[in-house]
Amino acid sequence: MIGDDDCLAELDANYTIGIAKPSVRQRLDQFASGHGAEPALLRHPNSSLESRVSLGPGCLIMAGVRIQADSVLGRHVFVNANAVIGHDAVIGDYASLSPLTTVCGGVVLEPRTFLGAGAVILPGVVVGADAVVGAGAVVTQDVAPGAVVVGVPARPVT
Ligand SMILES: CC(C)(COP(=O)(O)OP(=O)(O)OC[C@H]1O[C@@H](n2cnc3c(N)ncnc32)[C@H](O)[C@@H]1OP(=O)(O)O)[C@@H](O)C(=O)NCCC(=O)NCCS
Repeated sequence: MIGDDDCLAELDANYTIGIAKPSVRQRLDQFASGHGAEPALLRHPNSSLESRVSLGPGCLIMAGVRIQADSVLGRHVFVNANAVIGHDAVIGDYASLSPLTTVCGGVVLEPRTFLGAGAVILPGVVVGADAVVGAGAVVTQDVAPGAVVVGVPARPVT
């Protein structure tokens, strides 16, 4: 414990946010950057990135992650252990990918998407902003913004 919120302005340090919930990460990012702090980008040495992968500020890339060529990750994207992101994927700001998720080539995850553990997003699918994909789901078609989908194939929770 270093101090209360006011000490952020005094600290000569960068920050990352280890909370998986996208909306919370966005709120804390806005708070910290509003105090003049700069985000750090953390990438585990046992992760691999192919050519021309772009990582936004504050991204967290955990152990065993593989990101294929030409994928673009936005601000404070959290890629948890052993997730795979295929080529040409676009991962929006504050998205969270839980362990062992598979995002196939050309997928678009809009901002603040949350993927549960082991979820699979098939090639070219667009997952709308603030959508939640349940653990173990296989997403075969586009997901509406804010929807919660589960199962194989994934369907909205009713
Ligand atoms: C999808 C999820 C967000 C739904 O949570 P919720 O809104 O609290 O929903 P509930 O637990 O009330 O479940 C609603 C229904 O969906 C079913 N369900 C929930 N999660 C499911 C899943 N992953 N796959 C299949 N069905 C699921 C429930 O059995 C329930 O069905 P019922 O109404 O027939 O009983 C959550 O279950 C989930 O999968 N979260 C991912 C967690 C995760 O992977 N975290 C990463 C940790 S590292």
